[in-house]
Amino acid sequence: MTKFVKQEMAYERVETHREVVARDPYRLHYHIMPPVGLLNDPNGLVFFKGKYHVFYQWNPFETDHGAKFWGHYVSDDLVHWEEAPIALAPDMWYDKNGCYSGSAVVLDEKLYVFYTGNVKDEEGNRESYQCLAISEDGVHFEKKGPVIHVPAGYTAHFRDPKVFYHGEKWYMIVGAQTESEQGEAVLFTSSDLMDWQFEGPIAGSYHHHLEDFGYMWECPDLLEVNGKDVLIVCPQGLEADGLRYQNIYQSGYFAGKMDYETLSLEHGEFDELDRGFDFYAPQTMEDGKGRKILFGWMGNSEEDGVQPTVKHEWIHALTIPRELEWKNGKLLQHPVKELELLREDEVRHTNVVLDGSEVELPGVDGSVFELEVVTKDWRAKRFSITMGETSRISYDAVAKVLTFERGAFDGKGFVEKRQCVVETLHSLRMFKDTSSMEIFVNNGEEVFTSRVFDDPEAKGITFTATEGKLEMDVKKWSQKRVFAY
Ligand code: FRU
Repeated sequence: MTKFVKQEMAYERVETHREVVARDPYRLHYHIMPPVGLLNDPNGLVFFKGKYHVFYQWNPFETDHGAKFWGHYVSDDLVHWEEAPIALAPDMWYDKNGCYSGSAVVLDEKLYVFYTGNVKDEEGNRESYQCLAISEDGVHFEKKGPVIHVPAGYTAHFRDPKVFYHGEKWYMIVGAQTESEQGEAVLFTSSDLMDWQFEGPIAGSYHHHLEDFGYMWECPDLLEVNGKDVLIVCPQGLEADGLRYQNIYQSGYFAGKMDYETLSLEHGEFDELDRGFDFYAPQTMEDGKGRKILFGWMGNSEEDGVQPTVKHEWIHALTIPRELEWKNGKLLQHPVKELELLREDEVRHTNVVLDGSEVELPGVDGSVFELEVVTKDWRAKRFSITMGETSRISYDAVAKVLTFERGAFDGKGFVEKRQCVVETLHSLRMFKDTSSMEIFVNNGEEVFTSRVFDDPEAKGITFTATEGKLEMDVKKWSQKRVFAY
């Protein structure tokens, strides 16, 4: 197939499906979505010539996985996004079954994008290549082809290059599977972004104190946050363990110390980045202000077939951008400050006392809102906030467990839950879009990210504390719609 044919087909599909997509009441108001088809991982996050660039894994032709393109959005402020032309299409021999996930860096005023070329034959045999594409304007890309082949000892599950500069060198961290089917994060180095040397694994399923920690590690990202080295990674194949690892695949981080002389990483335990139903494949970037900003994929492959948006020919979205902070031995995630631009019509209630019965507060309702709740003077044993008919967050102060419940995608009531341990609940900051909920607990100590599909008319919010009194302050804002459809 000649160059541009696939791009033309994708644009045509966007045009012919614009109306059916736009009619979906669950179309989000301020989250990055595909114009049609399936979106998965955020890719190539970069601040280039004064603008934020977000690329994403995109299958324009189905609401299912397939030969991925790189879709592209550009922003001045991380809130208002403009759709840019398709950045990469799977149209070369080395990426014909997908331009898989990767990253972007800037050198000499040019944008260098590294991604995985995925190739599959009729029998399902796989090949993968780490490929380079370069752009001068940040919008049009010229493919340069593979720069790295899979090294000896690894399977073709070798993907998701994340490139960064440190000291006087370029580094690339790649998600890998060894021939004995263990997940690893491996490192390459380069002085010019063209020639790459394989340096070996820095962490993996059987490295350091880990044992049997996943058959494949996807989407690694190594970064420094306030002096701490953090390896973010998505191990596949962890079994559920108490309240942990409840989703099909996990994403989390190891904090530690990276020695760039010996190229070794000393690290602690794996900690999940998000406790909700729909969070995977996060990637970070550093912006012009030195902030470390993370986007995740707000999706989960288990539910692809049953999401109500499929009727409208699209599925999945990205999370809101979160700023990372390392504080008191913990990675905190904060919604970026710019999200306050979405706020409208502030409503405040201070020193509200809850004492047994369900409470609704004047002006505190809606289906798209930011809600901030600060809990004070804890005497109650249980506290909960019910939003609409299918989402509820509740805290058990005796068991010290926070629970998020949501309805099944095709019904009412609360049938699924995700939980985590929270020693004391101080605050909840919630971002509710038409069909998503992101809950930041205790100033970003924990986050619960989930899609929720409620009756669009269900706007009630009720607060309840039982077995003792609880005092709280509440602030609520409506939020502007920034995506036209
Ligand atoms: C993670 C992932 C990546 C891969 C991409 C393909 O969700 O499986 O490892 O590059 O999606 O779309």
